[in-house]
Amino acid sequence: MEFSSARHVAATLAAAEPGGLPFYAQQAGEVALFEHAFHQRLPLLIKGPTGCGKTRFVEHMAARLGRPLVTVSCHDDLSAADLVGRHLIGDGNTVWNDGPLTRAVRSGAICYLDEVVEARKDTTVVLHPLADDRRVLPIERTGELLVAPPGFMLVISYNPGYQNLLKSLKPSTRQRFVALTFGYPTPTVERQIVTSEAGVSAEVAAQLVQLAEALRRLTDHDLEETVSTRLLVMAGRLVASGLPLATACRAAIVDALTDDADTAAALAEVVSAVVPD
Ligand SMILES: Nc1ncnc2c1ncn2[C@@H]1O[C@H](COP(=O)(O)OP(=O)(O)OP(=O)(O)O)[C@@H](O)[C@H]1O
Ligand SMILES: [Mg+2]
Repeated sequence: MEFSSARHVAATLAAAEPGGLPFYAQQAGEVALFEHAFHQRLPLLIKGPTGCGKTRFVEHMAARLGRPLVTVSCHDDLSAADLVGRHLIGDGNTVWNDGPLTRAVRSGAICYLDEVVEARKDTTVVLHPLADDRRVLPIERTGELLVAPPGFMLVISYNPGYQNLLKSLKPSTRQRFVALTFGYPTPTVERQIVTSEAGVSAEVAAQLVQLAEALRRLTDHDLEETVSTRLLVMAGRLVASGLPLATACRAAIVDALTDDADTAAALAEVVSAVVPD
């Protein structure tokens, strides 16, 4: 019986599939950079807007390097104990239960902490000794000191767009990581992604990417973030499944981006110009 794990920790321990790498279209040399960081045992920080390929990149790299991947989606209630583990009480016994970070260290996995700036500040206490040249995880509650094996790598990501002063990384944290900044892919790469991920024709992919370029140029509207590669793939999937392109763009792009009627009208105008009904 578990008494103390009410807090939700989204974590998966997925085995890498040799040969069947998750599809990833490279933007600009990030595959080599990741490989060098891995072999040099350096942790990596990935920054970029939503839906630009950060998660897919890490999944691809874990499979490519033949490492298991442990992913943790960080949220504002995520504590050091959620990452490291805790004692659980059951049948009158207290049993230690590894958290996802500890499991990743023990198994020499790639540990991916998504939206790390959301996590509670006490998590830095466990991340710092792992992220510098000590590469150790002290488990205070059990007195154990785990030395990370060569296969272990810490990867963190966040979206600088959502960043505020309270939620940013301290210099002492960020300066422990090699950093990689992602944007949306170039049109050529993005067309390739949409074709492959949505299963649409090259023509439809080209129209969706052209639309994205036009929408990303719109700066005078109150959009928190602009259209992502993810939304283009979603629109493409609706088209592949039989919906007209204009309908798919309104549902998967315009209405997904905003609740504001004026902004939606402005976006819909751009859609009509690029993708006539
Ligand atoms: N370079 C890429 N190669 C292949 N697919 C990509 C690439 N970039 C984006 N995609 C597609 O876009 C989708 C969203 O990408 P992903 O989930 O990696 O975004 P993210 O940057 O992690 O977003 P978030 O910050 O919201 O978590 C993927 O499921 C995939 O279909
Ligand atoms: Mg992601």
